[in-house]
Amino acid sequence: MLMTDRTVVPGTTTSHSSILTENSCRVESELTELFRTRSVASTRLAEAMRYATLGGGKRLRATLVYAAGELLGARGKVLDAAACAVELVHAYSLVHDDLPAMDDDNLRRGRPTCHIQYDEATAILVGDGLQSLAMETLLSERFNPGDARIRAAMAEVLVRAIGDEGMVGGQAIDIEFTGMRKSLEELSTMHALKTGALIEASVLLGGIAALGPGHRVLDVLSRYGRALGLSFQIADDILDHTSDSMTLGKDAGSDDRQNKTTYVSVMGLDKAREEASRVCRDAVGCLRELEGDTGFLQYLAEFTVSRKS
Ligand code: IPE
Ligand code: IPE
Ligand code: MG
Ligand code: MG
Ligand code: MG
Repeated sequence: MLMTDRTVVPGTTTSHSSILTENSCRVESELTELFRTRSVASTRLAEAMRYATLGGGKRLRATLVYAAGELLGARGKVLDAAACAVELVHAYSLVHDDLPAMDDDNLRRGRPTCHIQYDEATAILVGDGLQSLAMETLLSERFNPGDARIRAAMAEVLVRAIGDEGMVGGQAIDIEFTGMRKSLEELSTMHALKTGALIEASVLLGGIAALGPGHRVLDVLSRYGRALGLSFQIADDILDHTSDSMTLGKDAGSDDRQNKTTYVSVMGLDKAREEASRVCRDAVGCLRELEGDTGFLQYLAEFTVSRKS
């Protein structure tokens, strides 16, 4: 029998949750190694970048890279580079999101937020440094060997997802919408941008690593990623309202305290839960258009709404 990464030997089972753990360990060790190779003039900056990135987080975005990529036949370093890049960008977005000028939160991944542990100037620079490092990881042949056209396509997908037309644009309207009554459509646009765009990009990076740019299957991955991203942020709004800081590892009730416009504030808790499940079903529905065993991608969509933190 030809053994592959995911071969399940008869009589044993590889559960989806253990694949998630495996992927999370894999990206953690890749990120650790990446930081080890850096030569940063400021020890304080280097330490704060590691603090913000390592040792926490569900690593959902990295896992989406691995899951989509492996389903479509990619293996090895190209996936590691993409997994590191999306987690670096995500860590940057959290550091900036927590700043006093934004959500003003003190707790992240069970520890003081970066600006509390260090200071605001360092936290701003940490975000900037992590964003650049993500791009270097995707574009440099050292980290991402292989076809230069694929490297460029991956970098383009990521930068477009996180800029003014993506994540940063979403964070801007998140601030503008604070304290305002907004329609469901405006709210779903905000969530699609601030959270959905990076999650969609994570799925797409796995797809591009396997198939190159322009492949028809990438449209299906985009739709799956968009729906998963939206259900993920609706669930985040619900957890902020219903859970506690100990369980979440971040400041629960932050949205209510700041009078943020969320699915819970606009629709109420029950309707928000229904909407999260409906959008999750949309994500799962997209998978029917893909060939191969999509069980893990289905599990990840369901995980976004069933998770406790
Ligand atoms: C938190 O994301 C920020 C949002 C976009 C909702 P995660 O819940 O994925 O954070 P970590 O990486 O697990 O800490
Ligand atoms: C954060 O959304 C989105 C980004 C970081 C881009 P939230 O502000 O809801 O995330 P949490 O709840 O602080 O993790
Ligand atoms: Mg925020
Ligand atoms: Mg926040
Ligand atoms: Mg939140």
